[in-house]
Amino acid sequence: MKVSIIGAGGLVGSCAASALQFGGIVREIALVDVNQDVAEGQALDLLHGASLTSDQRIYAAGPEDNADADVICITAGLRRKPDESRLDLINRNVELFQKILAGLKSSGTKKDAIVFVVSNPVDVLTYLAVKELGLPPAQVIGLGTVLDTTRLRSMLAQRLGTPPSQTNVIILGEHGDSMVPVWSAAQVGNLPLEKWPGVTPGLIAEVEKKTRGSGAEVIKKKGGAGFAVGVSIADVIHSIALDQHRILPVSSLQNGAYGLRDVCISVPTILGRTGVVEQVEIDLWPKEKTGLQNSGRVLQETIAKVL
Ligand code: LAC
Repeated sequence: MKVSIIGAGGLVGSCAASALQFGGIVREIALVDVNQDVAEGQALDLLHGASLTSDQRIYAAGPEDNADADVICITAGLRRKPDESRLDLINRNVELFQKILAGLKSSGTKKDAIVFVVSNPVDVLTYLAVKELGLPPAQVIGLGTVLDTTRLRSMLAQRLGTPPSQTNVIILGEHGDSMVPVWSAAQVGNLPLEKWPGVTPGLIAEVEKKTRGSGAEVIKKKGGAGFAVGVSIADVIHSIALDQHRILPVSSLQNGAYGLRDVCISVPTILGRTGVVEQVEIDLWPKEKTGLQNSGRVLQETIAKVL
């Protein structure tokens, strides 16, 4: 499998490339950036570690390299300031994103390519990509709340002293302020979270609050997310590359699940080589379902402003 990363010179794109290198699953990683020198520098740095990581082809590439990529991962874009919401970015990032989409249309993409949007506001830009590219909607996804979900699981695990890989709770909805943690289905070691020793409503509220503020906190402290978003991106790409049909909260165009339509947003999504295989609707707590619908409304209002 060949993956091209647009914006590979930046923190998010380069961390994604590094996570894919450690993963050792995809065969080829093409690094595309408007700043060719930085793309070359990143490719060189990754290449220097190749003998200790994996035998992939990793190289700086031009936009024409998107044409035969199996997954095109778009990370390019401006990042928000610590006090801005992801939706505030919309005015600054839409124009740039439109240019990237126009470039993809002119270079062309493989018929079965998956376009994977990471740039923010991710749900709005994923919707834009669905509308502009003319690919089947199942082949256009956004990172959505995959990153929020790993943040919540990891920080809950840290607070409880449990293994992060066995601390399970999913976040759905907008990758942004209206995100919806699904506490009704949370588990530790396959057991109900609410019965786990030491778990209180206060602890849950505290970890949820910390998760919501995580993006802004890392921007303030180190300029932006890198490692965690990199492994989140690789997790999604590996599910596609290996046709794993894993259930991930990626953002995709909705067609009725949870009452959501004509908006890209995260719901539990079965993901394989063809992209979205199925969006899964299960019974949630009423306040979770209302939260999801509220997220959908927030995103639709923003879409209406920019499109
Ligand atoms: C964050 C950015 C990637 O949540 O949206 O850190």
